[in-house]
Amino acid sequence: MKYLLSLVALASVANAVAVPLDGEQAPFGVDYKHPGFDWDLSAQRLVQIEGQAPVWMTELEKIHAKQRGIKFFDITDTRDLGTVPRLQVKASFPSPNATEKVKPILKKLSTKGPRENLKHFSSFRTRHYRSDTGRQSQLWLRDRIAEITSEWGSKSLQNRISISEFTHNWGQNSIIARINGSSTHDDGVLIIGAHQDSTNMWPFLPAPGADDDGSGSVTILESYRALLAADFHPERSLEFHWYSAEEGGLLGSQAVAKAYEGRVNVLAMSQFDMTAWVKRGTREEVGIITDFVDLPLTEFNKQLVDTYLDIPWVETKCGYACSDHASWAKAGYPSSFTIESTFGNSNQNIHSAKDRIDVSDEFSFDHMLEFSKLAVAFAVELGGISN
Ligand SMILES: *[C@@H]1O[C@H](CO)[C@@H](O)[C@H](O)[C@H]1NC(C)=O
Ligand SMILES: *[C@@H]1O[C@H](CO)[C@@H](O)[C@H](O)[C@H]1NC(C)=O
Repeated sequence: MKYLLSLVALASVANAVAVPLDGEQAPFGVDYKHPGFDWDLSAQRLVQIEGQAPVWMTELEKIHAKQRGIKFFDITDTRDLGTVPRLQVKASFPSPNATEKVKPILKKLSTKGPRENLKHFSSFRTRHYRSDTGRQSQLWLRDRIAEITSEWGSKSLQNRISISEFTHNWGQNSIIARINGSSTHDDGVLIIGAHQDSTNMWPFLPAPGADDDGSGSVTILESYRALLAADFHPERSLEFHWYSAEEGGLLGSQAVAKAYEGRVNVLAMSQFDMTAWVKRGTREEVGIITDFVDLPLTEFNKQLVDTYLDIPWVETKCGYACSDHASWAKAGYPSSFTIESTFGNSNQNIHSAKDRIDVSDEFSFDHMLEFSKLAVAFAVELGGISN
């Protein structure tokens, strides 16, 4: 009965965005408790869907909405994100011109680390943000970042680096690795992001999340490793973010953006969400998202692809609140998003137990490496080198 009520409530939401109610039915009700999860499915959440006033719904109704392909921000804890006057340097993204500096760093990149890291990262039963294993995977990732920092960073670079957990009240924290720039004036930080959490369409089922977004998580980690291996001392501060709870409605990235808004200049934010899949019979390419992004930064990304990658770009769209870059856009900062292919050719196994490394040879570590190149190029072209 409770379940029927929730369907009725959702129907108005779904009708409003013209999404058919043809999903399967939930095997649980709002009072359902799953071992290993700390999640009250009856909790009321405030949800923002494109072009509508925010609506209250339960966590269970949120699950149903996601199953129907509805994309949203859960704004319960960040209602005023985007209302603070923005603090930002005037963003300009010149044509790439640091080729001699970028190219040697690209040579440091390898598929070895990403392969090992992703094998482990996708071995947790789920990295759901409200699960025990989601917390364990986050602690593993934090420790891995710290190991890479001490293994590959010079002493002088390590003195500029801080690794911190941005705590959330749901258990799995976001992680931030920051390399302080040498510039003495505030000319804005750069952010390279991915989300560490995974989910099954039925959130209590296994979710290895190898592509979504284990791939992005290890892609940016490899970029970080290569920059350290090259002893990259940036002029401008550079941060790597691994967000929690993207799958819950961009919860982690909104919380971080909220903390930065009005306080930190962000020159540019670049999101990596799904970087591994090359659909059989398609051309290998970089999907450049063109909706809900900053257009000058997106043009700059295309130039980086042209200059530094071995594959071409293709324009594609992914809709409202599609990944964590949207939280930064909402806060008024320039943000962009690149993905493994056109949205239509992307991995169809996501949000299922089949989102594994070994499900198909369409899962490509060589493809992922192209995205690590893109993140390195972004960091060096916009960050400058002080040594
Ligand atoms: C690239 O151009 C920017 C501004 O247009 C300039 O500040 C920077 O020094 C240039 N970098 C190189 C390596 O020439
Ligand atoms: C980096 O810079 C920030 C802001 O200036 C400062 O608070 C922090 O202590 C610095 N961190 C390191 C590791 O030097």
